[in-house]
Parts: sequence; structure tokens; C-alpha cells
Amino acid sequence: MCGIVGFIGEQDAKEILLKGLEKLEYRGYDSAGIAVQAANGVVVFKEKGRIAKLREIVDENVAANVGIGHTRWATHGVPSQVNAHPHRSTTERFTLVHNGVIENYELLKNEYLQDVNFVSETDTEVIVQLVEKQVKIGLTVEEAFRKTLTLLHGSYALALLDADNPDMIYVAKNKSPLLVGTGDNFNVVASDAMAMLQVTDQFIELMDKEMVLVTKEKITIQNLQGETIDRAPFTAELDASDIEKGTYPHFMLKEIDEQPLVIRNIIQKYQNEDGEIELDAEIRNAILESDRVYIIACGTSYHAGLVGKQFMERFAKVPVEVHVASEFSYNMPLLTEKPFFIYISQSGETADSRAVLVQTNEMGYKALTITNVPGSTLSREANYTLPLHAGPEIAVASTKAYTAQLAVLAILAADIAKAKGLAIGFDLIKELGLVANAMEVLCNQKEEMDAIAKEYLATTRNCFFIGRSVDFYVGLEGALKLKEISYIQAEGFAGGELKHGTIALIEQGTPVIAIATQEHVNLGIRGNVKEVAARGANPCIIAMKGLEMEGDRFIVPAVHEALAPLAVIIPLQLISYYAALHRECDVDKPRNLAKSVTVE
Ligand code: M6R
Repeated sequence: MCGIVGFIGEQDAKEILLKGLEKLEYRGYDSAGIAVQAANGVVVFKEKGRIAKLREIVDENVAANVGIGHTRWATHGVPSQVNAHPHRSTTERFTLVHNGVIENYELLKNEYLQDVNFVSETDTEVIVQLVEKQVKIGLTVEEAFRKTLTLLHGSYALALLDADNPDMIYVAKNKSPLLVGTGDNFNVVASDAMAMLQVTDQFIELMDKEMVLVTKEKITIQNLQGETIDRAPFTAELDASDIEKGTYPHFMLKEIDEQPLVIRNIIQKYQNEDGEIELDAEIRNAILESDRVYIIACGTSYHAGLVGKQFMERFAKVPVEVHVASEFSYNMPLLTEKPFFIYISQSGETADSRAVLVQTNEMGYKALTITNVPGSTLSREANYTLPLHAGPEIAVASTKAYTAQLAVLAILAADIAKAKGLAIGFDLIKELGLVANAMEVLCNQKEEMDAIAKEYLATTRNCFFIGRSVDFYVGLEGALKLKEISYIQAEGFAGGELKHGTIALIEQGTPVIAIATQEHVNLGIRGNVKEVAARGANPCIIAMKGLEMEGDRFIVPAVHEALAPLAVIIPLQLISYYAALHRECDVDKPRNLAKSVTVE
């Protein structure tokens, strides 16, 4: 949440910062701003709304080679021009951008800043005022910045400008992601490498509680005791074209269409030379030595975890619990003697999941992160990583990462099963290949999906998704997709559960999307459809070929029943996409959300 950038060099900083912010807009888009070191001091441009609006107010005539920028997802204070970053100290000597949450900002205000007039409602303003306060009492800027960092409780990625020293950007990080990038006679700062791929692919990771002095020639990393730390850069293996929409109207549609390719890519990456699934033996052994696997995740990744539990229990006979990270951190269940933790996170930066990982690391338990971003915080801090190989996912609504998570979880379960000498009963690689083919067929049925969205969802107030067994989990994900981008009140339920309360909400015409891909519960879910239809609902049954019955609205090509979630989610993603279009919603940047949820 929130994205920050910084540039120091010889080129036009404004354009580099604005382009960088455009790439980071997925992290937050309530407001945006930049501050640049101009001839007559630091100049700030900020505006409520998207980067496009910020662009309109940036004065082309201001020349600057140094600057910082920010795109905001509001935590403290409403989205407004005043609360937008950068924030300035009273004398306007210091200007700061911040990603994160300062938990003790009220305390700091009361203890150190009683005489200061705050202009915004943000926690960030406290930081910039604290720096100024420390300088006023005689510290150098470097000392003042360091001292301020020691006073902060919470998460931060910071970039600070000093109007009296235009040749330096002061940077710091704790819990919020931040990288510095290096170039020939310039250096950059970014929440995500994507933002600065325009000028460099060489980045240096920063660790928590580090502070960095960035000039155009030099990057000096220090810990909070002032000791210098050497760290080599890495090459960001991102293709700039992966983060462009190309001819697609939205990233979400592009990412839905990429799913067959992603599954084929995963098959390739996780096969050995003999064409057999093979994972890192250390991961396998760690799971085999454990007595229970705990999957921790949020949102879509949590839904993937629910399906993953089925894979692990059915294929590998490994008991699994799946937990929402935000609850687990303070409401930890009684753990077994030898737990093993799996963190699922597309971004690898989700603060709720990371909070649990910090706890389980402290408890000495081993952990695996399944993520789309190797090198992300969750990947670095876990013992092992399994990458999703899905390519950057930009749309806030997760699509290809979800199916990639399912594929990797199925592969992991099959690998464990093999090590235990258990036969899973089918050739997973071959069946995943067939899933990719089915996905392709589904992605080519967009007109039909559009028609369903129009018929059922163009004007409805709410919508229910029902399924039994693993179809219930897919329904949860279908409902999340629909609600987050179309703002329809959508909920997923186990088919049999509806009559225990929710059926009271069924009115004449209420859409109920029923998923039927599992033979052993096919009759059961159809019974639930009859129950809601008898009360006026407008059912839309999506069934898998071979289980179809008269009146079904859409048939998904047959794939192996265990892998059906990977295929049947495609129509649900597409229906959500078109429903959002019919309702004129911003598909890629839905209201109130951000792609990377880096605050707890
Ligand atoms: O990056 P993560 O997978 O950890 O993110 C978890 C959730 O925030 C994420 O899946 C969210 O629910 C998506 N917007 C769903 O489309």
C-alpha cells in the first residue's frame, strides 16, 4: 500500500518520478505527489486522485534532477490534497514521502511536537517534523534522521529531501518494502523494481531498520547504530513488456488470458529431465518431518490455500489447516508438536502474513513461501520459496496468481505423495497440460461470459455463489472477484449452508451462481439450486462437461475432477470482469483497494 519513488542524477527527475509512480499506482491511488529539488528550493506538486491528475498540475518549466514521489492508499486521514504526500516540515526545509503506519504518532506528537502546527491528518507529518526538531536542537541531518527512526514504532519506507542539501536523498525502511537502484551517474529509490525498470535493472535490497544515504554517485547503507553495510546489487529479472497492457483494455483481462501460458510455464519449471515432478528435496523433507501443515494467507491466496489443503490431504495424506493471516497472528490455535508453515502470497509483501511469519520464525518453526515475487519479504524470511512463475500481476483482482498457486500446490502435494510412495491415481503433468488447454477454450468464450454478466449481474444488488466440496472454495473466490471489482454484494456459501440463514436473503430474481464440477456432490448442489429457485432466485449453473444437466447455463470443458478449480474459476473471473464493465467500474483499480497490502 502506497508506493514511493526517488531519483537523483542528471536527467529530468519529474518525468522519471511520474513514470515510476504510474507503475506503482497498483499500490494505491487515492492521491499522489512529487517533490523536486529546484533552483529556488524544494517544489511540491500533489493532487487528490490518480497520477494522471498529478501530471496535469506538474509545472513543466521547473527544472530538477533530484526528487521523490508517492502514490497513496489512505490510512490516516481521508484521501485529499492536504493529506497527499510529500509532506513538509514547518520551515519547509524537509520534505518526506512515507509508506507504512507509524503506530505511536500520537505519542510522538504529544512528547516532542506540542508546539508544531500540523496541516494534515497523517501519521507521516510527525516524521518530517521530528527530523526538523532534531536538527533545530543541533543534530546534523543524518543524525536527526537516525534519531527520528529510533523513535518510530511501526512500519515505514521513507525518502526525505533536505532543501539545504540538494545532492542527497535520505532513505530508510522497516517492514515496508523498499529498494535502491543503481545506475551510471544516477541512483533511484522504489517500493518495487517495476517502477524504475525504465532506467535500471540493478537493485539493492534493504533490510528492516536500515537507513541509506543516496547521492547520484553513491549508495551508503547503514544500520541504526551508524555502521556501514556492504550489499551487492541484484538484477531484476523483469521484462518491461510484462508490465504493459499491450493491446488489452485492462490488465485484468490480459492476466486472465495469460493463465494457460502460466500453467504451461509452471509445468516446465517443476519438471526434472525425465519429465517428472521434482521439487527441492529440503522442502519435501521438512514437510515429511512435520506432523501438520499450517497454510497462512489472505484473500485470494487464502482461497487457494483451501484448495491446496484438499490436494495435500487427498494426494499426500498430510493433515493441513488453513488460516486467515490477520486472525492467526493474535488468535493462534493450539499447534501440533511439529508444525510446518506454508505462506501463500502473490506479492510476498502482505503485512498480515508477514506478521505471522515473524512469530513462527521466532518460535523456531520452518516455513515455505509460495509467491510470485522471489526476493520479496515473505520469500526472504521463510526457509524455502516456491515461485509461481506467473509474471507480474498488476490488476488489483488476482487471477493468474490464483491458478498458479493452485498448480504449485498440486505439484507440491504430488511430490510429497511420491516421496511417501502414495499413488495419486493420475498423471499430474499431463492433466495440468489438459487444464491449460481447457483454459484456452474458456478464454475464447468471452462473448458468452459477457452475456451472462449482462443477464445476471448488470443491475443486481447482490449475488450468491454456491458449491459443495472444493466447488465451495471456488465459489468463495468467485464471490471475492465479483465484489471487489463490481461492488455487487457477493458471497460464497457451501450449498448446504444456505438454508441455515442466508436463504432468507433470496428475493425474486436474486442471482445464484452454482458450481458443479464434482460428481459426488452433483445431485446435492442441484438440490440446493432447486431450493433457491423455489424462492424466486435466478440460478446460473456452471457445470463441468460430463456432469451437465438440462438448464445449465455454461459448460466447462472436462478436466480431471481434482483440478477442476483451475478451470472453472476462469468463467467466474470473466463474468466478474464483464459485470464490472457493465457497471462502469474501474476494473484494474477498484475503489478502496490496493494490490499490495503492506499494512496490518
Ligand atoms: O499478495 P497476497 O497474495 O498476499 O495478497 C493477498 C490479498 O490481499 C489478495 O489476494 C486480495 O484478496 C486480492 N485483491 C484478491 O483479488
